Amino acid sequence: MTFTPTDYDAYDFANRRHIGPSPAEMKDMLDVIGVGSLDDLIDRTVPKTIRQQKPLDFGAPLSESQLLDRMRAVAGKNKVLTSLIGQGYHNTVTPPAIQRNIFENPAWYTAYTPYQPEISQGRLEALLNYQTMICDLTGLDIANASLLDESTAAAEAMTMAQRSAKSKSNVFFVDEACHPQNIDVIRTRAEPLGIEIRIGRPSDLKADEVFGAIFQYPGTNGLLRDFTPQMEALHAAKAIGIVIADPMALCLLKEPGQMGADIAVGSTQRFGVPLGYGGPHAAYMACRDALKRAMPGRIVGVSIDARGNRAYRLSLQTREQHIRREKATSNVCTAQALLAVMASMYAVFHGPSGLKAIAQGIHARTVKMAEGLRKAGFDVFPKKVFDTITVEVGAFQGAILKSAVEEGLNLRKVGDNRIGITLDEVTTAETIAAVWRAFGITTPVPEGTSYDLPDALVRESDYLTHEIFHMNRAETEMMRYMRRLSDRDLALDRAMIPLGSCTMKLNAAVEMMPVSWKELNALHPFVPADQAEGYTEILGDLSAKLCAITGYAGFSMQPNSGAQGEYAGLLTIRNYHIANGEGERDVCLIPMSAHGTNPASAQMVGWKVVPIKSAANGDIDLQDFAAKAHEHSARLAAAMITYPSTHGVFEETVTEVCKIVHDHGGQVYIDGANMNAMVGLSRPGDLGGDVSHLNLHKTFCIPHGGGGPGMGPIGVQAHLIPHLPGHVEQGGDRAVSAAPYGSPSILPISWAYCLMMGGEGLTQATRVAILNANYIAARLKDAYPILYKGPLGHVAHECILDTRPFADHGVTVEDIAKRLMDCGFHAPTMSWPISGTLMVEPTESETKAELDRFCDAMLAIREEIADVESGKLTRDASPLAHAPHTVEDLVGDWGRAYSREQGCFPPGAFRVDKYWPPVNRVDNVWGDRNLTCTCPPMSDYAEAAE
Ligand SMILES: Cc1ncc(COP(=O)(O)O)c(C=O)c1O
Repeated sequence: MTFTPTDYDAYDFANRRHIGPSPAEMKDMLDVIGVGSLDDLIDRTVPKTIRQQKPLDFGAPLSESQLLDRMRAVAGKNKVLTSLIGQGYHNTVTPPAIQRNIFENPAWYTAYTPYQPEISQGRLEALLNYQTMICDLTGLDIANASLLDESTAAAEAMTMAQRSAKSKSNVFFVDEACHPQNIDVIRTRAEPLGIEIRIGRPSDLKADEVFGAIFQYPGTNGLLRDFTPQMEALHAAKAIGIVIADPMALCLLKEPGQMGADIAVGSTQRFGVPLGYGGPHAAYMACRDALKRAMPGRIVGVSIDARGNRAYRLSLQTREQHIRREKATSNVCTAQALLAVMASMYAVFHGPSGLKAIAQGIHARTVKMAEGLRKAGFDVFPKKVFDTITVEVGAFQGAILKSAVEEGLNLRKVGDNRIGITLDEVTTAETIAAVWRAFGITTPVPEGTSYDLPDALVRESDYLTHEIFHMNRAETEMMRYMRRLSDRDLALDRAMIPLGSCTMKLNAAVEMMPVSWKELNALHPFVPADQAEGYTEILGDLSAKLCAITGYAGFSMQPNSGAQGEYAGLLTIRNYHIANGEGERDVCLIPMSAHGTNPASAQMVGWKVVPIKSAANGDIDLQDFAAKAHEHSARLAAAMITYPSTHGVFEETVTEVCKIVHDHGGQVYIDGANMNAMVGLSRPGDLGGDVSHLNLHKTFCIPHGGGGPGMGPIGVQAHLIPHLPGHVEQGGDRAVSAAPYGSPSILPISWAYCLMMGGEGLTQATRVAILNANYIAARLKDAYPILYKGPLGHVAHECILDTRPFADHGVTVEDIAKRLMDCGFHAPTMSWPISGTLMVEPTESETKAELDRFCDAMLAIREEIADVESGKLTRDASPLAHAPHTVEDLVGDWGRAYSREQGCFPPGAFRVDKYWPPVNRVDNVWGDRNLTCTCPPMSDYAEAAE
């Protein structure tokens, strides 16, 4: 037989690995939709008027192995020195068990935010452990999980204090010993809200003149102070006291709660989370019970399920933007769940004795290092420290810093004549010797250990007393604990997560691998630029590619979530108006269908939100829009629109909308969360947008981590570039995040994606995302009305299924969402943008087989609804009401009006690989009425098991 060669390209990442359907499957899908070709579908869906002129061209795409070679070469341009800069960032040992079982495990990093609690019990437990750890360490009643970084947490604490304090002052006091980036982000946040910032020493505080005050503990230069007198004075003045505290220091030192603090915030980075050149890391916030309703961020709470068994879920959700919009406690949506899970596991792994040992080791090495410097005649202060000292070096500053670099160390330049040194878990005697050599000290490091904490600040209370922090910490146990938790959850590694507006697409293993490399994750955010040349190249090329994709002139990589991008973008617009002498512009038009973070972000820059109606077809009501723009013309600051709309349609009127805003002197913010429908086909910058954020954790493959990390860089037109956020460590100001580039260590994921897809592959991904959504719409349209379509009957990259008609028979959208769990699926987005609907976004990464499995499940559910409609079963007797079904249902007394087979193995569910939700339907109301946000005692677990 003659050999027949194949033209199949085994290394074509875009078409063989990232994009789900094969060419043959695509053909079948197009037949179901009833169009001749993919080109035809795109022509019928994406209006010609908004199409981009030139195709994306990024050169030849790289294969996976070529990508790794390229990444190695670029990462190798970073120089990894031992950074003892401190300032809120520390070297840490990520326990390999946590690195492999969580950080590098798709079961953890591909999960979504736990809004569907029944399929999120594992990560909810891990986050509850986190909250318990934070409450214990800070000595406060309730904690959240989690915030974006320490600086934004400090800014959130300030606005929380303003919301909660009885004092009517608009002045906020900031301890001068706060880390500079914390002060900068607080200032940025304060200015548009009319909050006056007063910076000084704690002893300068005039409590009756402020609504709140914030202190750093230990101070940025190592100071250890007891803030009890300040807290007493603040309380007497009905003001709020906040402490930014290092959780590692709290393992040895008096906790903020003991000092009378109302709120504590800080970073949990040094609990096993790599430096990452600035992030991602989880920030924490804890507060007194009385303030809990004013707390931003997600709070995990304990509730019960339909059987009365313990079940976790997110509590007090009515505080969040989805419901309260511009009146929400904050705009935080994506936070840092994965990193909070890592930090909590670090505490479980080490337990209180391990943490204490690590903290005391850090302290003892600091004492030893300081003694050596003092003996050599250096003036070292403060006298008593935890891990940070400051050394007076006068004119020798430059020479010592230089010889430190030669020793492989980065020390902190403090002013013109001091040097700061912060030690950490990784510091050894050799590190101390190297520090000493940089100071010209050549004596050997002596043996022996001594401690020198101020007696009045030695911690008296226990912490991490809960059993979970006292389990046998053999790695076997730890590994199994992490596995058990992840097995309770449904992440992308098991099934499609068709959440509309969330773009849960493939996070390819090859994109993730470099995040673990020390050349990328061991850099301190404030290292000199010549040590981060690899990062400069990645950030530069990624920015250039994002500019080409969006049509914008420049990008800021600082915002570390989509909502932060919105806030940063609106601030940029605000700065621009002020620079033009039009600072009075403070009205923001926002369609009612917008994501809740839009109005919440507008409120954060001090703007008034004017809602715009939707027309019957889901588009922006152009008449209402024009009328409101006219009415507010003199004060129009901006309009925030989402494109394609949150209704999943490319509105043809978008350019007209932008023109109206510009004619009235406003700027256009285009929310780029739906960019997965546009890449390669249409550019927000060409449509009339002035600013957009991109959710890199959606369109550009950063995994969602069960609720973060994420990145929300903003693209802007040229006129806005001068008004973008700066950073104090780079000589700028108006920072919105703690680190200059937000969470840089996850940016290589998006860069890798662009390099392996190439321009053509990225465009094809968009086209297939549209194909997949239209395929689902075509298969389900007779069972569920599809709301909102383009003029030729097609949807964009997502479709909205109307389930409201079933309410007449008592069947709710929630019943359908929970029933999908029995079929092995995460529900689509529920009740947004329209209450009582499901918004489905399959993404391009799902294969036809998976789309069919989903459609089969939805059709079977429709038949169950039909049984209720026809009166065959009541809703309460139907599987819809009992969903999700657990093993408890299967083995218990059945007594149901439908079979076990129907209940537990509906179409879609795998027989062998069946996913069993670990709890029945969770009672949300019970959980809010009986609020518990820390681990319940072990005795409760025993009772539940009986
Ligand atoms: C349309 C839209 N805008 C903004 C956001 C906020 O992004 P993030 O969750 O990253 O803060 C989302 C998140 O789901 C969204 O769907």
